[in-house]
Amino acid sequence: MLQTCVRIQQITLLYLEVENKLRLIKMLLVQISDVHCGPMLRQEMLRSAIKEINDLSPDVAVVTGDLTENGLISEFKTAAKELKRLKAEKLIYLSGNHDYRSTGYLLFREFFPFSQVTETDNAVIIVLSSARPDRDDGEVGHRQNIWLERTLEKFKNKVKIVTIHHHIVPVPDTGADQITIVDAGDVLRSLVKSHVNLVLCGHRHRPWQWKMEDMLVVHAGSVSCEKLRGFFCNSYNVVEVKNKKVDAKLKIIGGGYVNFKEIVKRREILQASDISQYSDSLAR
Ligand SMILES: [Fe+2]
Ligand SMILES: [Fe+2]
Repeated sequence: MLQTCVRIQQITLLYLEVENKLRLIKMLLVQISDVHCGPMLRQEMLRSAIKEINDLSPDVAVVTGDLTENGLISEFKTAAKELKRLKAEKLIYLSGNHDYRSTGYLLFREFFPFSQVTETDNAVIIVLSSARPDRDDGEVGHRQNIWLERTLEKFKNKVKIVTIHHHIVPVPDTGADQITIVDAGDVLRSLVKSHVNLVLCGHRHRPWQWKMEDMLVVHAGSVSCEKLRGFFCNSYNVVEVKNKKVDAKLKIIGGGYVNFKEIVKRREILQASDISQYSDSLAR
């Protein structure tokens, strides 16, 4: 009898250990981008997106810049009021070129303080600052690039996710591209060299995905701006990290999930109704 009790206890402990490990290696991250509080804000879209995201109970939510249209204090107030509804264990905010207009860079950190390095059980999420005052193009800069490499060195065993407002690789259907980061080559080299698993960009309001070496570069559409390019639905991204595997999907607000491979393959997708047949659900 005693032996049976000890055995049951051992099995229970083993089960709890396995369950604990499984819990540690799973993470759900949501990326929303280009909110653009101001004249082009679709407030109802933003509110619907936040409600959907809160229902997912994400571990991490990243807002990849352009929270405002012109960096005005009234726009920052609206952004803060609206984004206060967004719930996640960890919230990360990035500034975009629009937030840096009208000396909005002085306001951004007041309204949206954030840390450049966020660590979870199985991943590290790094913020690269690319916006510069009164410039639409972006720049990471030599010092920040060196800091990036040194920081990532410390997280060799974790899934490495880097977030940046500007795009580091051009995106189709966005016209003559003159506003990628000016030091894209150096940054790409550092990202690949540091074995980054996933890069999350915003800025172009056009969802897209590139694979470079072992690194996935995912571009977000806009969550709530009227201005969209080549994909005419407001959307956000849902990223699941299991073990070392990263799976990113696009979620149309009020619609279904779309695999990024479908977006790349079916470039002519224009409306949510056309996409519905490619949607699938993300089980959680
Ligand atoms: Fe934007
Ligand atoms: Fe932008």
